[in-house]
Amino acid sequence: MTKRLIGIVMFLPVLFLTGMLRVNAQPVKPIYLDESRPIEERVSNALSLMTREEKVALCHAQSKFSSKGVARLGIPEVWMSDGPHGVREEILWDSWSEAKWTNDSCTAFPALTCLAASWNPEMSAIYGKAVGEEARYRNKTVLLGPGVNIYRTPLNGRNFEYMGEDPYLSSRMVVPYIQELQKNGVAACVKHYALNNQEIWRGHIDVQVSDRALREIYLPAFKAAITEGKAWSIMGSYNQFRGEHCCHNDLLLNKILKGEWKFDGAVITDWGGAHNTMQAAMNGLDIEMGTGTDGMTRSITNAYDNYYLALPFLDELKKGSVPESVLNDKASRVLRLIFRTTMNSKRPYGSFATPEHAQVARKVAEEGIVLLKNDDNLLPLDASKLKSIAVIGENATRPMTIGGGSSNLKTHSEISPLQSLKGKFGNKITYAMGYASGPSAYGRELPSKLNADTLRAEAIRNAKKADVVIFVGGLNKNHFQDCEGGDRKTYNLPFGQDQLLNEILKVNSNVVVLLISGNAVAMPWVGHVPAIVQAWYLGSEAGNAIASVLTGEVNPSGKLPFSFPVKLTDCGANSFDKLCYPGDSIKEVYKEDILVGYRWYDTKNITPLFPFGFGMSYTNFVLSKPLTDKKIYTKGETVKLTFVVQNTGKVAGAEVAQVYITQKNAPVLRPAKELKGFKKVFLKAGETQTASISFKVKDMAYYDDKTSNWVVDAGEYELSLGTSSRDIKFMAPIQVK
Ligand code: GLC
Repeated sequence: MTKRLIGIVMFLPVLFLTGMLRVNAQPVKPIYLDESRPIEERVSNALSLMTREEKVALCHAQSKFSSKGVARLGIPEVWMSDGPHGVREEILWDSWSEAKWTNDSCTAFPALTCLAASWNPEMSAIYGKAVGEEARYRNKTVLLGPGVNIYRTPLNGRNFEYMGEDPYLSSRMVVPYIQELQKNGVAACVKHYALNNQEIWRGHIDVQVSDRALREIYLPAFKAAITEGKAWSIMGSYNQFRGEHCCHNDLLLNKILKGEWKFDGAVITDWGGAHNTMQAAMNGLDIEMGTGTDGMTRSITNAYDNYYLALPFLDELKKGSVPESVLNDKASRVLRLIFRTTMNSKRPYGSFATPEHAQVARKVAEEGIVLLKNDDNLLPLDASKLKSIAVIGENATRPMTIGGGSSNLKTHSEISPLQSLKGKFGNKITYAMGYASGPSAYGRELPSKLNADTLRAEAIRNAKKADVVIFVGGLNKNHFQDCEGGDRKTYNLPFGQDQLLNEILKVNSNVVVLLISGNAVAMPWVGHVPAIVQAWYLGSEAGNAIASVLTGEVNPSGKLPFSFPVKLTDCGANSFDKLCYPGDSIKEVYKEDILVGYRWYDTKNITPLFPFGFGMSYTNFVLSKPLTDKKIYTKGETVKLTFVVQNTGKVAGAEVAQVYITQKNAPVLRPAKELKGFKKVFLKAGETQTASISFKVKDMAYYDDKTSNWVVDAGEYELSLGTSSRDIKFMAPIQVK
């Protein structure tokens, strides 16, 4: 017996060592699946298990909106979806056509111009959280937004998707959106990096701009998105910059984005933005999407293998003309994107098309609407005093969540202005279309079949009988309007709106003009219209937000995120020649350089129709003389401006205090003023609040393109405290030692 026992005891370790005897031994989990390990260990472990072909497969599309994971290792695919204003409906595998699902009708949030117009980073945070929850619920890895290209000309078809003309406002408003979006385990993809400031020839126009303008105007919002927002992906733009396509541009991607800004995420092309294998390999591109290559994508067989970063890339690796380290860097960035999103099992589950999201859409819309004019306090409209209200204009009923290009949305609901106004005023409302623009169509402008004279006559009849007219006009998401793929052809309102307005004003002077648009427009009738409201593409809750503001339920507090010039040629980009805008079809030179928007108007003493940062309220505010915490600052210090804001009116409201800086006797050209801080202050009727705005002295720097350094000259500076770029209440001189 003992011999047998001894034998078994002797044999046990052998069993154990050979793994035959699993004494409650856990199966060894590979490191890349072990969420207790640091993400970089997981990435390098996954990389070490992958073949070269599997790594290359991570770097290009497998379908219209997805790229491969590593099926063999259980690493999921990357699913991308537009757009900045809400989650686009599902698209078919290999075409731009909708999949016609019945479970993807989303919440349409306001366009980002509206978000910017709120001048309230808290709105950006709730927006990013809500749209992130919807993208998470729809199981998207990447949401293709937000866009922060600078508003350079009112003709750009996609201004409505961006955050205006000022790099500081765009920077402050883009960061919370990204931070809150990504807390849902969905990657933001800030776009379009960079210098995509028009739609004409967007696929190839070669932008020439100075280092100063690049650094001071066009890059700051992207830099903030990456270094503060920590965006996990970024989209290269279609155009070229200094002769290289931005989707594989060595200066923008390798030197600035990945070098200076230490971006560790994935660079994704705009759809069809890659044009060359060696550049795509060596100049910092990580995922190639939407390429036409040699037209193979018209067939569905192996088109994706013909992508520049597919078989051609594999060939270059095999030949050794591209080092393996380049492939490993790309694959690591894609893996990092995946581990931060779909392979983070702790990420929330999201939510979709909820009342809470509708409330966020409405709140952002209400805070973004801008009151531009309100003579004799025609607004807010008081139902008890009005017998009849004539609503005129196609935009009172036209759906605005559709059209516009890739930011197009299939929404579960969209409340039109007319619907909400009827809700408020019942049968006091009459409606006439007044003008017609034709059906919304991406890629072409379709004229309306309706007779303009008949429409106009009906509108005039209604206007004659009404106590007040609400004209709901503006632009729409048709091609050559606010729409991707083309720029506007005129600065004026289209479809005969100016003429119609003039006819209405002949029969009724109580006209409220409500503009629904994402761009500035000419207003030849501005002197004859007592009230003007700039509403944006406001999404699912558009009508409710508009009606709340027009009836005074909500006191408007929006401020313009871009200037409205009187005429197009007042605008810097449009005041030079064709080469300056839209370019000569090959090249474009940004001749206005750093003087974009109010930087142009204020430096050139051109009075805008409505200035940057302008917006009225139904109440009044008074600002006190500001105090700076010091008179003389060193370059490493922070300036703190303190002031008092008082609501001297009868209703609660919010004012946006803005601080601009001016360098006196600068050795280089500097704009008349530059925004360096703002604060939105909410006050009850009669309430007084002390507020302060701080900014770093180093943020007063200009970029010296001779030394490629940011410079803060010692000397005199002037701080301007105001409520628009033109409405400066106080100046405060400071010195930098
Ligand atoms: C479009 C747009 C880009 C969009 C992408 C996918 O061309 O430029 O903003 O995200 O392609 O639709």
